[in-house]
Amino acid sequence: MIKTMITSRLFAQENLNFTRMCFLVNCLKRLKTSQQWLSRQKADPYVEKAKIYNYRCRSAFKLLEMNDKTNILVPGLTVVDLGAAPGSWTQVAVQKTNADGADPKKPKGTVISIDKLQIFPIEGATIMNNMDFSTTDAHDKVIAALGGTKVDVVLSDMAPSATGVRELDKDRILGLCYMAIRFAALVTKIDGNLLFKVWDGKEVPILEMDLERFYKSIKILKPKASRSESSEKFILAKGFKGVQRPLQHGQWG
Ligand SMILES: C[S@@+](CC[C@H](N)C(=O)[O-])C[C@H]1O[C@@H](n2cnc3c(N)ncnc32)[C@H](O)[C@@H]1O
Repeated sequence: MIKTMITSRLFAQENLNFTRMCFLVNCLKRLKTSQQWLSRQKADPYVEKAKIYNYRCRSAFKLLEMNDKTNILVPGLTVVDLGAAPGSWTQVAVQKTNADGADPKKPKGTVISIDKLQIFPIEGATIMNNMDFSTTDAHDKVIAALGGTKVDVVLSDMAPSATGVRELDKDRILGLCYMAIRFAALVTKIDGNLLFKVWDGKEVPILEMDLERFYKSIKILKPKASRSESSEKFILAKGFKGVQRPLQHGQWG
């Protein structure tokens, strides 16, 4: 009896030590990752530039660069920005479409921004916070907010929080891409455009083929501000052709 008690105590003690050790190892791993993140941020010129130009994050420069090449955002356009938090793409979209009316001589645009996280207000943009865009209910709410207006440009920088399991993460972003494509097909004007983020892989050519049914041209973009070690790329689908028959709920999401 005593022997059993001692053995189980020792066993419990060992278990506790093992748990403590795992906790410590995890803390060290996290510390290393956050140190790596900190030093990468310090060395990154776009982080500094974002502070200077008052953008909420460095991603602004990805959109600015892609827009310089493609000119998809101009004054007067209606834009929907999916996965918009913290809001730097929205800041760029507002500036480029004149949604804040900063230039009274140019037409005033409209920008609607959606994220499942909170986005602090941005003058000139309509913000839809805490909205999970993977539900068709969210799509219906955005369509209602548009009040019958068709959209010139759908932007999507949506990305799931990484689980670390590569294949799973890829499937999740692909799901978000098809959500964005489906939504864009419902709301976009004829000849409108769609720009969205993907993670590179064998699925990208299939995505391109699917898009060719609805858009006149498809282009893959990798702006300089997108880190070279990142597998992220952007697909620009230009010239929406319209859909022959309405997409059903559940089709592509
Ligand atoms: C890379 S960040 C976007 C950065 C943003 N373009 C900017 O410039 O500030 C990706 C965003 O996608 C959002 N996101 C991911 N899944 C989403 C979903 N199902 N519905 C809405 N937003 C989502 C995340 O919350 C995150 O804020």
